[in-house]
Amino acid sequence: MRVVMVGSGYVGLVSGACFADFGHDVICVDKAVEKIEALKKGIIPIFEPGLDALVESNVKAGRLSFTTDLTEAVAEADVVFIAVGTPSRRGDGHADLGYVYAASSEIAAAIKGFTVIVTKSTVPVGTGDEVERIIRETNPEADFAVVSNPEFLREGAAIEDFKRPDRIVVGLSDERARAVMTEVYRPLYLNQSPLLFTSRRTSELIKYAANGFLAMKITFINEMADLCERVGADVQDVSRGIGLDGRIGSKFLHAGPGYGGSCFPKDTLALAKTAQDYDAPVRLIETTIAVNDNRKRAMGRKVIAAVGGDVRGKKVAVLGLTFKPNTDDMRDSPAIAVVQTLKDAGAIVSGYDPEGMENAKQMMDIEFASGPYQAAEGADVAVLVTEWNEFRALDLERLKSVMKSPILVDLRNVYRAPEVEAHGFTYTGVGKTEEVTKV
Ligand SMILES: NC(=O)c1ccc[n+]([C@@H]2O[C@H](COP(=O)([O-])OP(=O)(O)OC[C@H]3O[C@@H](n4cnc5c(N)ncnc54)[C@H](O)[C@@H]3O)[C@@H](O)[C@H]2O)c1
Repeated sequence: MRVVMVGSGYVGLVSGACFADFGHDVICVDKAVEKIEALKKGIIPIFEPGLDALVESNVKAGRLSFTTDLTEAVAEADVVFIAVGTPSRRGDGHADLGYVYAASSEIAAAIKGFTVIVTKSTVPVGTGDEVERIIRETNPEADFAVVSNPEFLREGAAIEDFKRPDRIVVGLSDERARAVMTEVYRPLYLNQSPLLFTSRRTSELIKYAANGFLAMKITFINEMADLCERVGADVQDVSRGIGLDGRIGSKFLHAGPGYGGSCFPKDTLALAKTAQDYDAPVRLIETTIAVNDNRKRAMGRKVIAAVGGDVRGKKVAVLGLTFKPNTDDMRDSPAIAVVQTLKDAGAIVSGYDPEGMENAKQMMDIEFASGPYQAAEGADVAVLVTEWNEFRALDLERLKSVMKSPILVDLRNVYRAPEVEAHGFTYTGVGKTEEVTKV
């Protein structure tokens, strides 16, 4: 199959490289000239474990190439994936479909022969209908079908997720398109990944329903964590106690600073907006959004409480800035709100992240340190915000020796209180406070 990927970001580049690895001929297109120039030189513009080797081997094998010339690439294609961004629209929170529609008209003008156009971007229900309309109006002669194929990969484990997905969802009604999509994903379903064919609208909604549910699950355990702190229970034991129930499942039950990243915040918001527009409001998701928004600043206040209620002029070391480990993605990272809350209260913040520093520098005005111990130099408190492996086995003696006062706030429950306290630290986790308010 001749595959074109329009948009070569976290999703487009990973999907393109994986499709090439399956044996397809793939061209990744992007408007960002510097991104394509870098890729042509073998430089991967994002941090994603294993991606550099996968790209390199497939480029070498002649199956993967990069261009800014969409027209030439699309003309030869059997299938064109749209993997451009769908951020929140400024002002109202709906998904901004500007990039998807712009890509659709560019693709429309370039189509030659029967071509399947696939939206891999996360798009609200009905977007496929609009993409179809745009293509038909731009190029009335075009022979094409529009398919929905949402992507479920997670940054940090993207290649594994793409190559061994729990399922592949494909929304379509055209039989020729079904044959093409079956061929594109053949290596995966031969490998037992279920290929689920649905209507296009259903497929579009599945993606939002999945992200909405997962965001709700995280938010649920975060609220349980708050309750644990009040009643003297341990949220990690609660997670285990409920997660072992097969109907609930143990994943996404880790209490923390609230969900962030490039997907959950914008997708929950877009789902809530779509549901309101169709007069079927999703109150659970609306509440999830509100609870999560409050939580991020509340985590900043938790740090302030850990140093006795006043952080003005004090130094806070923030360990981990990205929204999760193994990515350099800073979009909507909880660290942004935590840092802002601390700065608003007058703290001096020093941050360190193994991969996210470059992106973080565009987003926050703090001191950037060269490592966790450098960040903690002279600090009144250290806050573990992102659970990078590098922070899982900190040399606590060394950490204590460089800090002004040994206080550790662990927003990911990486450590156990007794082991940290044994080194002379005051420790605060999430959902673990022993103080009980009797009612
Ligand atoms: N990042 C994830 O973990 C993830 C997971 C699943 C789904 N998604 C969804 O996938 C989509 C893409 O997300 P992403 O994180 O890869 O975004 P991204 O911002 O990393 O990449 C998008 C790329 O598209 C390019 N682009 C925009 N318009 C273009 C055009 N007309 N022609 C060519 N290139 C164009 C941009 O330059 C950018 O490089 C979004 O809808 C997102 O919700 C993302």
